[in-house]
Amino acid sequence: MSQQVAIICTDIKEAVLRAVGNHPSSDIFILTDDNTLNFCYPLIGDLSCLKEAHLITIPSGDENKNIDSVVKIWRYLSENGANRKSLMINLGGGMVTDIGGFVASTFKRGIDYINISTTLLGAVDAASGGKTGINFLGYKNEIGVFNLPRAVLIYTDFFKTLDIENIRSGFAEMIKHALIYSKEEWQKVSTFDLEKVNFDVLRTLVESSIHIKEWVVKQDPTEQNVRKVLNLGHTFGHAFETFSYRFNRPVLHGYAVMWGLLCELYLSHMKFGFPQEYLLKLKNLTKAYYGMFSFNCKDYEVLYELMTHDKKNESEDINFTLLSDIGDFQINQTASKEEIFEVLDFYLSL
Ligand code: GLY
Repeated sequence: MSQQVAIICTDIKEAVLRAVGNHPSSDIFILTDDNTLNFCYPLIGDLSCLKEAHLITIPSGDENKNIDSVVKIWRYLSENGANRKSLMINLGGGMVTDIGGFVASTFKRGIDYINISTTLLGAVDAASGGKTGINFLGYKNEIGVFNLPRAVLIYTDFFKTLDIENIRSGFAEMIKHALIYSKEEWQKVSTFDLEKVNFDVLRTLVESSIHIKEWVVKQDPTEQNVRKVLNLGHTFGHAFETFSYRFNRPVLHGYAVMWGLLCELYLSHMKFGFPQEYLLKLKNLTKAYYGMFSFNCKDYEVLYELMTHDKKNESEDINFTLLSDIGDFQINQTASKEEIFEVLDFYLSL
């Protein structure tokens, strides 16, 4: 697996031309969902290098990140002459880049693919790092492989079409990256105005955020050890997210991550003395921009149960990544049921 470096571009046409121009094949398959077909594809569709490209469109929504969509794309590739040298371009958010990466990684034992992320969440998380996959039997990302894209292109002007909730959702992963990396990064990210977004500033923050992710992935591409740091906030976060779907009040992934970060920094404080001042700042950010997830103490058992089923667990214990301080992470940590309930008590007290 070679290491790719995401390209943050100001001219998407030129970036695609460069990325595709470097590829030995002119046999190109572009995957979009119905939204990116309408709003993003027109920005690159008239490029001469894409004139002959095949277009494959799947319905948007995470519920379509499934084996039926995979079969549909595999079938299209087979019936339209795709070969080992073909190139796939995945144009979309995390759903499109996850499934497109998976299809490309498995078709004829693997063809090259490029991700062009059209959402902030996708740009700072799913598009980079080579995790590909689909949901299966109700489990998220149950089937998949690690396989890095040939290139990742990020065009931040796409983000101007997102609503503020989707900007904040993506930004939560950037807050996570800052927390695992350095106080300097935290300072920049935690003072960013999520009320009136300055897209030029956002662009520079996205750039450093992706570099943090790449710095982690480079050390441990298949998540044997240090890559687990990227799971910070995600043990509680996934429980909140699944809970929200189970009880029919779905929340965006990044919102659940933000609430998860708050819980896991409190757990970090309990177990490793993580400084209170940062915890307080995170609480203020959460309340100002994300609101709080509503549940009560009768829900603790369900939330705990969801955490015991987290696929990050390697034994009976629930696995956490915690912090002693910003930039000072502790992977493979566990917590007792009492400690987890204490964290939930803390959350409800805010
Ligand atoms: N989303 C976390 C990772 O890519 O490892």
